[in-house]
Amino acid sequence: MKTHHPSRHPATKKNPLTFSTLAIALAITSVYTIPSIAAEQNLASSTDGVQYFERSKSGIRKISKDLYVAFPPAGKVTPQREPNIDQQLLLQGKYPLGYVLEAGQNQFNLPFLPDTGHGEGAKGPRSKQRAVWNSRGGTVEDPAAWPFLRVNGIDSQSCYECHNTIGEYTPADAKTVAKVRKPGTQGGPAGAANTAFINDQFPEDLNQLLGTDPTTKAVLTKFARNPPHVFGTGYTQRLATEMSTELQAQAKAVELVAKANLNKKQTQALTTKGISFGTYSVTCKTTTTCSVDASGVVGVQQDLVIRPFQWGGIASSVRHFARDALDFHFSVQAVEKVGHKDCDLDGLVDEITVGNVSALTAYVTMFRPPYQEIPKGKEASVKAGEKLMTTIGCTSCHQSSLTIDNATLSIQTPPAVPDNAPCPTEVAQLSNSLETYSDSAKEASDRVERAFAQEPKVDAAVKAKGKNAPEKLYALVKPALHAPELVPANANYLIDLNLTGVAKNAVPAYVWPRLPAQGRAVVVPLFSDLKLHYMGKQLSDNYAQPTDNADYAAQPGVFVTRVLWGIGDTDPYMHDGRARTLTDAIKLHGVEGSEAKPVADKFAKLSAAQQQNILDFLGSLKLPIAEGVTAPEYAQQ
Ligand code: HEC
Ligand code: HEC
Repeated sequence: MKTHHPSRHPATKKNPLTFSTLAIALAITSVYTIPSIAAEQNLASSTDGVQYFERSKSGIRKISKDLYVAFPPAGKVTPQREPNIDQQLLLQGKYPLGYVLEAGQNQFNLPFLPDTGHGEGAKGPRSKQRAVWNSRGGTVEDPAAWPFLRVNGIDSQSCYECHNTIGEYTPADAKTVAKVRKPGTQGGPAGAANTAFINDQFPEDLNQLLGTDPTTKAVLTKFARNPPHVFGTGYTQRLATEMSTELQAQAKAVELVAKANLNKKQTQALTTKGISFGTYSVTCKTTTTCSVDASGVVGVQQDLVIRPFQWGGIASSVRHFARDALDFHFSVQAVEKVGHKDCDLDGLVDEITVGNVSALTAYVTMFRPPYQEIPKGKEASVKAGEKLMTTIGCTSCHQSSLTIDNATLSIQTPPAVPDNAPCPTEVAQLSNSLETYSDSAKEASDRVERAFAQEPKVDAAVKAKGKNAPEKLYALVKPALHAPELVPANANYLIDLNLTGVAKNAVPAYVWPRLPAQGRAVVVPLFSDLKLHYMGKQLSDNYAQPTDNADYAAQPGVFVTRVLWGIGDTDPYMHDGRARTLTDAIKLHGVEGSEAKPVADKFAKLSAAQQQNILDFLGSLKLPIAEGVTAPEYAQQ
């Protein structure tokens, strides 16, 4: 096959420019490598397929004189890692939980290499971006083929690379204050160096690079994100699902009452787990023409789905996030995302199966929760700090605990991707259309439908004309909302978060200890209301960020109240890691326009000793060292 090599001319040679424009072009070029964009567009639009490369007999493609990249022959089915989990057998209960978790750990900790799906082909979704990023004087085709980008993913090889520290300490016998890492690190956050950069448009457009707003110009990245720890995420997901379920049931109650009482506006206060999310109103002209007034909804997207994961409140479940993290960080494209297609053009299909994403999700959600460790001598200060958090209002957002009603975590089976479904249109696209909605959001709406369908007194309550009719209708269905069994049985993989009756050695040590259970209920000390808050322009991104539902985006400057369990071990702080100390993190709450400003101002007015009380309290919220690992002796607490 004849290969076509588009020639690369520096823009300045192609288009003679006047002196002044040339100077500007050069100034820009030296920073942003603009000429390669034009060259790369030729590359991407040429029609000769992916055959830029000589392929050795072993399937290794030679991409320049010295560089080789292993791309397997096209269409090869990716070898799955062992232990390999089959989704059908998983749903039939054929694997012991310990085995599933071990399989998930294998997905999380082992690096993904090219032969196990890592990377994308020369013409993959990020080829233009890679051409710019990796062009360091090579030929036109090298940079696009080189499977690394750093900005906008393909930035690492394993989940563990970024979720790998549970804090540092100075050993008791150390001669200096230099720190070493604590043992048992998996599931932790990472240092500032592992910040993820997200910019799906890099380097498409000059406005993107320079910004349209002169005060915020020059954005190499749209979103810089500090890796959080993933301990206790099963509890967090379950809380969020229950909250979404309750909010959506309240909305449905209003709608049903409005349909039965035409031309009368019905309003319901949205409240779940004691937290207010504003109001929701519906007026119906006929039973099929209703208008919803969601302008009173606060702290949650108007689809009433609580999305506790990612700083901006993007993902409603760990599964959805893990699926997209695999794609974003490694270009490992899950079957549940792209079907049996090779959307990243690396020659491999089925890069990770549904069963193996289930295992990965089980592993991540079942990490033990963070805990509190109060250093000797600091008991009084920690106690005073905890009290002050409430007195000055930190806990108005960082709510000390939320209670799960039914501690059954459902790892939802995703809908199959039809063979004719197009590949995602955006690079490492995170959103799903409504038709492919799944996970926590789907579980919530399924539960709401079922609870209303099963309650015999719904019809009578709907027709009631009383002032609080929606509220009464909601109270009627509420007891059924979190009932354990979700029909049809075995459709999803269920895990008892309490691990009731599970022998200690039947599952890996990293799941123990669990939070104390009270029947099916569990109090989760996460220090968050899982609500969205505006934190001021200074903490804002320049762009809205799409959530896991294509119709809803997280607005700039709006973040979920960050959980504080584990905060004593997770520096740096805030969504982009800009705060190195807890004091700085708190100070940043006080920027102009932030909802937290009044509280941050109160913190600033506390005495130095009182501020230290709060810092001591926060410092006592620790990430757990793996069981069986000896706790280090600290030189300084
Ligand atoms: C390059 C570093 C990096 C890698 C690799 C990485 N993560 Fe993350 N992880 C992050 C960052 C950064 C965030 C926050 C993202 C955001 O807020 O948008 C995050 C967030 C998460 C969260 C949400 C936690 C919360 O409380 O909000 C989970 C769960 C998670 N990662 C699991 C995974 C899994 C599973 C993998 C492997 C498939 C993985 N991560 C790979 C950096 C990384
Ligand atoms: C209006 C709600 C609100 C109030 C009040 C509030 N916070 Fe926050 N807090 C947040 C949000 C939202 C974030 C995440 C912001 C970001 O990343 O930019 C956050 C982040 C933090 C962090 C950093 C978390 C991390 O993992 O990096 C700390 C520490 C913190 N808050 C402590 C406090 C303390 C102490 C107070 C009281 C002085 C307080 N907060 C009051 C909403 C609030």
